[in-house]
Amino acid sequence: MTLVSETTPIRLRDYRPPAWSVEAIELEIDLGIDSTEVSSRLTLRNDPQQSTPLRLDGEGLELLAISLDGRKLEAHGYRYEQGVLEVHGAHDGSVLETRVRVRPAANTALEGLYLSGSREHGFLLTQCEAEGFRHISFFPDRPDVLARYTVTLRADRERFPVLLAGGNPAGSGDLPDGRHWARFIDPHPKPCYLFALVAGRLENIQRDYLTTDGRKVKLVIWSEANVIDCCHYALDALERSMRWDERSYGRSFDLDVFHVVATHDFNMGAMENKGLNIFNAKYLLADPDTSTDDEYRAVEAVVAHEYFHNWTGNRVTCRDWFQLSLKEGLTVFREQQFSADMNSASLKRIEDVALLRRTQFPEDAGPLAHPVRPAEYREINNFYTATVYEKGSELVRMVAGRLGQEGFRRGMDLYFERHDGQAATIEDFLSALGDANHIDLAAYLTWYSQAGTPRLHAKGEYDAARHEYTLSLSQQTRPTPGEPDKKPLPIPVKLSLFGRDGQLLPLHTDGEAQGDGAEKVIVLDRATQRFVFKQVASSPVPSLLRGFSAPVVLEYNYTPDELALLLTHDADGFNRWEAGQQLAMLAFDTLRDGDDSVACRAWCKALAALFEQDAMDNALLADLLTPPGEIEFADRQSEVDPARIHAQRETMQHRLAEQIGIDALLARYRALAADAGEPRLDAGSQARRRLKRCVLELLALIDAEQANTLAARQYSTASGMTDRLAALSVLVRRRAPQAASALAHFRERYADNPLALDKWFTVQAQVPDEPALAVVRKLESDPAFTLKNPNRARSLLGAFASTNPSGFHRADGAAYPYLAERLVQLDALNPQIAARLATAFNGWQRLEPLRRHAAQQALESLARHEGLSPNLSEIVGNVLK
Ligand code: PHE
Ligand code: ZN
Repeated sequence: MTLVSETTPIRLRDYRPPAWSVEAIELEIDLGIDSTEVSSRLTLRNDPQQSTPLRLDGEGLELLAISLDGRKLEAHGYRYEQGVLEVHGAHDGSVLETRVRVRPAANTALEGLYLSGSREHGFLLTQCEAEGFRHISFFPDRPDVLARYTVTLRADRERFPVLLAGGNPAGSGDLPDGRHWARFIDPHPKPCYLFALVAGRLENIQRDYLTTDGRKVKLVIWSEANVIDCCHYALDALERSMRWDERSYGRSFDLDVFHVVATHDFNMGAMENKGLNIFNAKYLLADPDTSTDDEYRAVEAVVAHEYFHNWTGNRVTCRDWFQLSLKEGLTVFREQQFSADMNSASLKRIEDVALLRRTQFPEDAGPLAHPVRPAEYREINNFYTATVYEKGSELVRMVAGRLGQEGFRRGMDLYFERHDGQAATIEDFLSALGDANHIDLAAYLTWYSQAGTPRLHAKGEYDAARHEYTLSLSQQTRPTPGEPDKKPLPIPVKLSLFGRDGQLLPLHTDGEAQGDGAEKVIVLDRATQRFVFKQVASSPVPSLLRGFSAPVVLEYNYTPDELALLLTHDADGFNRWEAGQQLAMLAFDTLRDGDDSVACRAWCKALAALFEQDAMDNALLADLLTPPGEIEFADRQSEVDPARIHAQRETMQHRLAEQIGIDALLARYRALAADAGEPRLDAGSQARRRLKRCVLELLALIDAEQANTLAARQYSTASGMTDRLAALSVLVRRRAPQAASALAHFRERYADNPLALDKWFTVQAQVPDEPALAVVRKLESDPAFTLKNPNRARSLLGAFASTNPSGFHRADGAAYPYLAERLVQLDALNPQIAARLATAFNGWQRLEPLRRHAAQQALESLARHEGLSPNLSEIVGNVLK
């Protein structure tokens, strides 16, 4: 079906090194909200092997002047058409000068130079990744063109007292007419996607930092005045990240100053511009009254992620955008290691695996499936996906596991040594890691080039006479769009064996495994393989894929008792949780066909027993008590009825609550609630809040009245956002009589706090089932709602369409044309955000027939809509395939 206009895709195999590159760029920028003039001076280099004329990217630029080697170009000397400036007569060493006008206030796509906030009070900033620089000036806008930047900013001092660009400060001063200037020189050549500037009225907090190699660095966080007090947590997190990267990877910062800026108007989470990171305020500001515990951890993680990019992304960048995971997968992995070190390693792993299953597995299982390194794309902004980020990180984790801690560090050292200052590929990365350890890692490349989540089938056989346990493993990956045949992958399986008494058994193999004592890693690298364990005293229960050692779906025929045994006895928090999740899946599958099941009883009983144990960690217990989400359950069905999934998941929770019992739940809630007062951020306090929420939710299923009263009280007495939002969510989801007044109170209390208000929209957009659509429609008329702000659009429409399956997938299909209509409106303002929200349609092919037809109709009429952006067209076209 080709309803959507087909542009030719860009293909990895067509990669050619640039014919023209830029040695140095000097920018002089006269800033104004409506009109900004950008003068650029490029010193060009030509590859003598390639005789193509000079072509530069430029999108929507009003060309005011152009000269080559000091001579003004006449009209026949250049051509500017369809995003390309072609210049005749340039040679190696030529200097091209251009002056263009851009219009920041009219830029609603938030790509290039734009205005954040109001005309009166807002500030100017840039976003260049992936291809935003071409909206600012002419340049070979590709990551393998690295240049030295000298940037001079000029602006009205009163309106733009703060002028920032990446690199080291190199002078500033006054100009006539109340204007001023500031210059920055970045000594490190960089691709243009890492360029950034910020200008406006901003406050800062700062701190000196001394690197282990003796450099004094000023760390500065900037925000609008009213939230500058919410930046301290991020500044601490930044310092922790810097120390950690020095300790763990021997990498320190390489400029004299490191700026971080918060904005409320941002398409993504944050951006690693060299020396001038720019953050969505949601991932920088942290304050107990506005931020939940989860958000505190997200701030720490994103601050670390962007900082770590300075080495994995900036010092070593990507050759082309197909290599995006080279920086993103690797940097996510580094952030995961950091967060595991700062907090609880097993809780972090649980959180990340749950995220992978909720976001990446469905992507890999549907029409939007693509390899971690895609072979082609039309719109690169559509490829900042869970696959590139989260699965990409899992691939690095597998390789790191294969090399061991020291081996991985050796490999990373070699990677930096070889590629510092270069634009590298995923092959370069694997070669460096392999070469440093004399290991060939080429087999892992298949993981990067092949889409789809492999299924790992495992079967165990115990030979009592010989005391041998044979594990037969096989793998299979289902076809994905454009990839009918799949190759076998190397799948590292970390495993242990448990006796039926819950004791770990020592492992003896024929030497084909790494590891010691009771835990080993075996690698399945063919379609099928058998592994024999000797001296196994009795028929064991295998604990497979420990720590989630590979991003696969495990298929093993566990009995409920076996999973309950692992859930109860495994010493490792992650594996315990995983056993519980598997048991919950089994419970879900068997519950479907009857009103009770052995698995569901086993799940409830095991958890109720853990609930009674004093030694249980509160946070882990909360995670254990939380069954897989509706999206994960849906992922296993061949025909999806979201309302039924919602109801059935709730049935499971209801059974669990009954098994634990009202008295035990109430007693636990009271004990956890007793500790009120100032919200503290230590792990113990966070864990108590997490469990308290979970207990309250369970209670609400079996004693609504009592739970509502407790929730209403918790709402009004809460000392921080975590407790307040948890209570509000229970009231709203259970449609408690107290919900309306709590919502009204929240709306008023946070009227001037956009990040808190986003949560107010979200909590209502997540109300389950039929009522959700009407709620969402009503909220659209709230004066605070706008499609122009990405966070706000996401807080309502994104939360509804992507995180509320039973609400969005109504039986009558009415939410589909509704979303399609909003996507068209949003697309006219901000194509990137529209395209991302459209991925909520992913998976429509597996819906039950009524919903499926309704979704298809909405999508087809969307596809027929004239003038959709390339971004939205690509997603709609692909999702329809
Ligand atoms: N590179 C950013 C990150 O992951 C993400 C991003 C992509 C931000 C594109 C803006 C635009 O850290
Ligand atoms: Zn990143």
